[in-house]
Amino acid sequence: MNKTLIIGANGQIGKLLIQMMTEQKMPVKVMLRNADQTDEFENKGAEVVIADLEAELPDDAFADCDKVVFTAGSGGKTGADKTILVDLWGACKAIDKAKQHNIKQFVMVSSRDAGDPEHGTKAIKHYNICKYFADKHLMESHLPYTILRPGRLTDGPLTGKITTTRPTDQAQQTISRANVAACILQCLDHSETVNQIEELYEGDMPIQEAFIKSIKGRLG
Ligand SMILES: NC(=O)c1ccc[n+]([C@@H]2O[C@H](COP(=O)([O-])OP(=O)(O)OC[C@H]3O[C@@H](n4cnc5c(N)ncnc54)[C@H](OP(=O)(O)O)[C@@H]3O)[C@@H](O)[C@H]2O)c1
Repeated sequence: MNKTLIIGANGQIGKLLIQMMTEQKMPVKVMLRNADQTDEFENKGAEVVIADLEAELPDDAFADCDKVVFTAGSGGKTGADKTILVDLWGACKAIDKAKQHNIKQFVMVSSRDAGDPEHGTKAIKHYNICKYFADKHLMESHLPYTILRPGRLTDGPLTGKITTTRPTDQAQQTISRANVAACILQCLDHSETVNQIEELYEGDMPIQEAFIKSIKGRLG
């Protein structure tokens, strides 16, 4: 079986996702930038490739993979320069490599306001613009894509229940990283999520039902 390449594997969502995937014996290749973390991931059964999104991406990262998950990000503690280099340019480079390697599904962890940075949170407008253009590059790449746009991430529990409809109350526009990881897994398992863009928030509907409802709603 072909592998799924996880970019941002050592991140909080990445680790939760890899735990879920390796428990299900799904073949995983992880992209790390620190070789010292290799044993931790190999012990879980993942193949490791060392690469930095700020450098040229090696072809062997994408070889033998048919799916890619991009859940990397420069994080809130770095400057806007890193947001451009990692969240935008790093994502675009990964998309271009995925295209060269005929990847069958590219799952992008984007952000709530990436669809409309003009009206999103002003303090992180630059971040939302980077996510907007990374998503646009993916959509225009002709790769089969799934774009997930979670609300503010929390360390809350895995409930397995979400909504794809944005709550009107900003305070409720959150979702746990565990639920985002479960949503990614759902997308990798279900081809109907290909070429869909979904916002993700805590909700009361099982993940699969929430995705089906959203997709059917768009189809009318
Ligand atoms: N925070 C929020 O409220 C929020 C909301 C919506 C969407 N998001 C998005 O959700 C995604 C993941 O969230 P998270 O909480 O899991 O983030 P996280 O814990 O900060 O993980 C980010 C990962 O990206 C990796 N990374 C950063 N720069 C890199 C580089 N140059 N080359 C390779 N890898 C690099 C980090 O590697 P190291 O482990 O080596 O540092 C880390 O593994 C991000 O894309 C973020 O933008 C966040």
